[in-house]
Amino acid sequence: MQKVKIFDTTLRDGEQSPGCSMNLKEKLEIARCLEKMRVDIIEAGFAISSPGDFESVSEIAKTVKNCTVASLARANTVDIDTAWEAVKHAADPRIHLFIATSDIHLEYKLKMSRDQVLEQAEAMTRYAKKYCSNIEFSAEDATRSDWAYLAQVVEAVIRAGATTVNLPDTVGYTTPSEMRGLIEYILEHVDGADKVDLSLHCHNDLGLATANSLAGVLGGARQVECTVNGLGERSGNTSLEEVVMAIHTRPDIFGDIKTGIDTRQIYHTSKTVYNVIGQKAPLNKPIVGQNAFAHEAGIHQHGVQANALTYEILTPESVGIKANNIVLGKHSGKHAFEEHLRDMGFELSADEIKRCMEEFKILCDKKKTVTDADIEAIVMHHSSGHATATEGFELDWFAVYTSNFTTSTSTVCLKKDGEKYQQVALGDGPIDASFNAIDQIIKPVEHSFDIYTINSISEGKDTLGDVAVRLRAGDRTFVGRGLSTDTIEASIIAYINAMNKMQAQLAPQEV
Ligand code: KIV
Ligand code: ZN
Repeated sequence: MQKVKIFDTTLRDGEQSPGCSMNLKEKLEIARCLEKMRVDIIEAGFAISSPGDFESVSEIAKTVKNCTVASLARANTVDIDTAWEAVKHAADPRIHLFIATSDIHLEYKLKMSRDQVLEQAEAMTRYAKKYCSNIEFSAEDATRSDWAYLAQVVEAVIRAGATTVNLPDTVGYTTPSEMRGLIEYILEHVDGADKVDLSLHCHNDLGLATANSLAGVLGGARQVECTVNGLGERSGNTSLEEVVMAIHTRPDIFGDIKTGIDTRQIYHTSKTVYNVIGQKAPLNKPIVGQNAFAHEAGIHQHGVQANALTYEILTPESVGIKANNIVLGKHSGKHAFEEHLRDMGFELSADEIKRCMEEFKILCDKKKTVTDADIEAIVMHHSSGHATATEGFELDWFAVYTSNFTTSTSTVCLKKDGEKYQQVALGDGPIDASFNAIDQIIKPVEHSFDIYTINSISEGKDTLGDVAVRLRAGDRTFVGRGLSTDTIEASIIAYINAMNKMQAQLAPQEV
């Protein structure tokens, strides 16, 4: 077997894209999913970029045991020192340094000559090597670089000790045949290229990231950098689930090339990431979208019933999607509930199970049938701290007066540290009025209201409403989620949750 390593950069390239910022707890939760899915390398962040990033790289390095943990660094000593400080406690630390190699980046961004970049790349790889044996070098904008010059840089960094050399398609410009050609060219023209892992890092500006990565693998690359759900700057990075399942599904093309991923963890990990960023998979997203395995057209349904292979190239079970069994009700015991959660892929503490079970029972009283989708929503809200207000404000009660011919009024009562706070406010509809009342209580730092979405969890008009609210303060975003059969209540909970996160980060003394 030839292994293609999966390098996950959801927590670095994914997280640095607008609207995807995550707090430490959320990053740790995702890192645990990635470890369980058996990715080879977790790029936990860009340690020098902020104290928060440094802390999360460092905490992930200390927590994760079965994956390499990497921090990004520009090719300079301060970045490399900081990256090392952050990853040094990892079971297998990696420093990932980069410098651009395309003429356009050299001239307009770095203002350096080709010789200077070559020298810097080699010297900084050697510098990083004194800390750690596992060194990745990335030639930023490799696909728009002159191939002969790129080959010189790659040879120099291999000489200096790089163990992985990444050739990013930074602006999503290349095509599959060109990507494969570049890898083959480097393998042919660079001394020692066959002794290191050549790596791909494709952006999706032309929708070709997955195709380009797969073509690079066929050309001889042995590491793919990707993100869960394809998160990332602009149109995103290569989507982990697409690359992994393509290799998994087409052994006739990829032969003995395999990834080490436990594909049954894909769906759960994808859901966790969407939950953290307050989004839902687009319906037609390959592998993890709601329609990925749905067969609406009669002719398809008929074919699938006769033989699933007529229209299904991979099974939902292979990515961890379970049939929606309704086996629990309000009389189910704790053990049955716990076992069912385990079956669904959740590993929760005794306290979390207790709290989820309480909510499950409340929901059983409100809804005719409680489905696995409902249970999954309850657990996801709890596990990412959306449902609990352990720090900050919590909803006590609210009352709204609303009609379609006058301004709405909302009275909201919040509690915090045993104190109750009540305000009444007007608004354009019950949600606006409630948010205004909450603003009066919390008196938040200056922010803008970025996104409000509401999704139904299951079918039927008694469905749970899943609300996501995203607030923006400067370049930081804060996502809150709320879940209730009452959409006004779900909205209020989501808003308080986002506010709590924002205040805790930006105005701790005022909360
Ligand atoms: O897109 C890119 O070139 C990168 C590098 C820093 C690896 O993210
Ligand atoms: Zn990138």
